[in-house]
Amino acid sequence: MRKQIAAANWKMNLTLSEAGTLLDELLKTPYSLKENQEAIFAVPAPYIPLTIEKLSGNNNFFVAAQNCHQKTSGAYTGEVSATMFASMGVKHIVIGHSERREYFMESDALLAEKVDAVLTIGSTPIFCCGEPLAIREAGAQNDFVAEQLKSSLFHLSAEQLLNVVIAYEPIWAIGTGKTASSEQAQEIHAFIRTVLAAKYGQAIADQISILYGGSVKAANAVELFSQKDVDGGLVGGASLIATEFTAIIKALK
Ligand code: 13P
Repeated sequence: MRKQIAAANWKMNLTLSEAGTLLDELLKTPYSLKENQEAIFAVPAPYIPLTIEKLSGNNNFFVAAQNCHQKTSGAYTGEVSATMFASMGVKHIVIGHSERREYFMESDALLAEKVDAVLTIGSTPIFCCGEPLAIREAGAQNDFVAEQLKSSLFHLSAEQLLNVVIAYEPIWAIGTGKTASSEQAQEIHAFIRTVLAAKYGQAIADQISILYGGSVKAANAVELFSQKDVDGGLVGGASLIATEFTAIIKALK
């Protein structure tokens, strides 16, 4: 059975003490996640040790990194490798967020290298895809997203793909308060699964978790997550509010 995942992406927000307070608040609620459910926290890299400490003892709660360098080690001042994150106990790394693509010029080819770096050490990339508004308005979102998947993931073996989580995040819905409707999300998630099935077969495609991201909040999570091909969410703004993210975790199916 594929995993249902509530993933927080804190982006570049919160001080260390605010991060601690948020985690304390969140963990006041008892969670009993099912075997197929996970809560993942992609926190700023310096907050990883604190987050690991706070989450310890909570079944199926994991810390993630928001990015990594494609190389294992070397003279890359300011960068952190997937290997380094793994050595700290981090097993999930967000790769190819639209903000990385836009502000740091990360190309499909570079993201393919990053995906490899993460998989090589046995960690899980949370690979982001999603179209800008102009592409959606032109009705070309399926081709756009299929191309992103093909360019950065289709060199993988089926066995490797099974360790990838996909997050579909339409850029026009990120931080805008404008969420894709549950029908729009289901439609493109089903399409993504079709693209994966065409390359890897239906049995493999059916095991891949496809998260939706873009203004997910407590008020829309149940409806979004109830869609057949929506396996949870990657959550920005609402993950910074304890009550919101608690409700989002509880909305997992
Ligand atoms: P928001 O939930 O703030 O729209 O951000 C979505 C996102 O970019 C998560 O990675």
